[in-house]
Amino acid sequence: MATRMNCSVQNTLSLLNPSHLSLRHRASRFSHRPLRFYSTPNPNRGGLFCTCSTTNGESFVLTTPLYYVNAPPHMGSAYTTIAADAIARFQRLLGKKVIFVTGTDEHGEKIAAAAMAQGSTPHDHCNLISQAYKTLWKDLDISYDKFIRTTDSKHEAIVKEFYSRVLANGDIYQADYEGLYCVNCEEYKDEKELLENNCCPVHLKPCDSRKEENYFFALSKYQKSLEETLNKNPNFVQPSFRLNEVQSWVKSGLRDFSISRASVDWGIPIPNDKSQTIYVWFDALLGYISALSDEQEQPDLLNAASSGWPAALHLIGKDILRFHAVYWPAMLMSAGLSLPKMVFGHGFLTKDGMKMGKSLGNTLEPNELVHKFGTDAVRYFFLREVEFGGDGDYSEERFINIVNAHLANTIGNLLNRTLGLLKKNCQSTLVVDSTIAAVGNELKDNIEKLVDKAHMHYENLSLSSACEAVLEIGNAGNCYMDERAPWSLFKQGGTASEAAAKDLVIILETVRIIAIALLPVTPSLSWRIYEQLGYSRDQFDAATWVSFFFHSLAHKDASNRLIAIST
Ligand code: MSP
Repeated sequence: MATRMNCSVQNTLSLLNPSHLSLRHRASRFSHRPLRFYSTPNPNRGGLFCTCSTTNGESFVLTTPLYYVNAPPHMGSAYTTIAADAIARFQRLLGKKVIFVTGTDEHGEKIAAAAMAQGSTPHDHCNLISQAYKTLWKDLDISYDKFIRTTDSKHEAIVKEFYSRVLANGDIYQADYEGLYCVNCEEYKDEKELLENNCCPVHLKPCDSRKEENYFFALSKYQKSLEETLNKNPNFVQPSFRLNEVQSWVKSGLRDFSISRASVDWGIPIPNDKSQTIYVWFDALLGYISALSDEQEQPDLLNAASSGWPAALHLIGKDILRFHAVYWPAMLMSAGLSLPKMVFGHGFLTKDGMKMGKSLGNTLEPNELVHKFGTDAVRYFFLREVEFGGDGDYSEERFINIVNAHLANTIGNLLNRTLGLLKKNCQSTLVVDSTIAAVGNELKDNIEKLVDKAHMHYENLSLSSACEAVLEIGNAGNCYMDERAPWSLFKQGGTASEAAAKDLVIILETVRIIAIALLPVTPSLSWRIYEQLGYSRDQFDAATWVSFFFHSLAHKDASNRLIAIST
């Protein structure tokens, strides 16, 4: 059963592969032009206000967490990165200069132990796993701009400089610490949050009792400033229900935390005290800034920060919210740097209700999924199926049903049915310019509304709803096709046949719009659609969100003037 359905997904998606068909306009001067609509941007359109937006000219910096290299990536780590990639691609479609940062978190006890367990050195182990992340990102079409490794020398230099700034600000002191430590979380835990036998609720493994003299960061000093930040900028933590969680942590009283380890060698040494290394989180968070540092220049904290900081958006899983929404802003305040504009904590991919993870060993292999179903299917399924912010469980049956129904049947078949009719009845030629075809067309109005809806959802990071809005465009196109029944109009000949040819143009334009509106989620599927519509790769790469709207449609002549074309 599964095999039959798998084939079905692959086959129907492959219907979107470049085919024998190319579109030509009847008028000879447009014989090499693809089907195309132009529009002027309408200033009244656009998304809702969203604090993760940037003002004109600024870079839109967004980050994924820097992944631990204790083991190769799994679907849970891939999930954050796919979502970040969709957001990055959407922002680029809006014309923003995007800096999409990802990377690997390579220091600390957990990584050293993983290397030892593999009979490897931490250095070699990190090289291997870090490369596995890069390979997966390639397979998943992840368009990152910066990949930072916390073992990069520029990062180490920036961490040391940051540490010295915080020290100079009087926020670091030495003290004894005794507590229960979860190595998998790389975090001291409060006894009250642990399960029986002092087990960590995330990793279900007992925490170790530790006692050390460490360096501490004076988090408590920032209690008031953090409360104010959260009150004044409710969008700082998203979704909003996670803000309540963060506010209640802060309200319950912030305790200083230890930022060094005497017992861990695999880390960045504390400046002026080689007997301790910097706590892995105090080191890794700085990766968001060191990633921005120019490769050519001497690494320098302020120079790096001047290349795009503050980030518009940190995308993270809910388990590391406290580090990003409490520790990190306090650290930045101490060093006199601006705070990121938004921290978005998404939910977990679960298997049988448990967080999928390397430590629990219940992971899903992204490589296997990509190999079996293709990159677009994997990206689409997780972004469409899991409401961004909440948890989501994986089921292969559901995966196949969704991808088949949405990508193959609704979108793929719409394109292929239309191209088939065009070939049969119009010699694969667009008999009327799309500008003319769209005038007074009722499908056009509906699609414009749906495009706006998708735009708003992407802006608000409601990725599943954005996919849904695009799918509605596909449904509207299919309904239009069924209602108009161009195949029977063609049989009638004369004006009925002309109307049918016009309908095909409208429907193909609808599919083109779908390709761009879904590009953030399914980039290679979108390109294959564009290719079938006769566009070059350069034209596809130059597409922007504002080239969507049906109103003010026209072709451009050689002087770049908008001109209406009649048949
Ligand atoms: N190294 C830290 C992050 C440092 S950022 C400066 C870390 N790494 S991690 O590899 O353990 O996790 C990275 C991200 O993957 C986290 O946001 C985590 O929530 C996410 N996920 C890991 N398993 C996941 C699921 N099963 N589902 C969704 N996301 C999950 O934490």
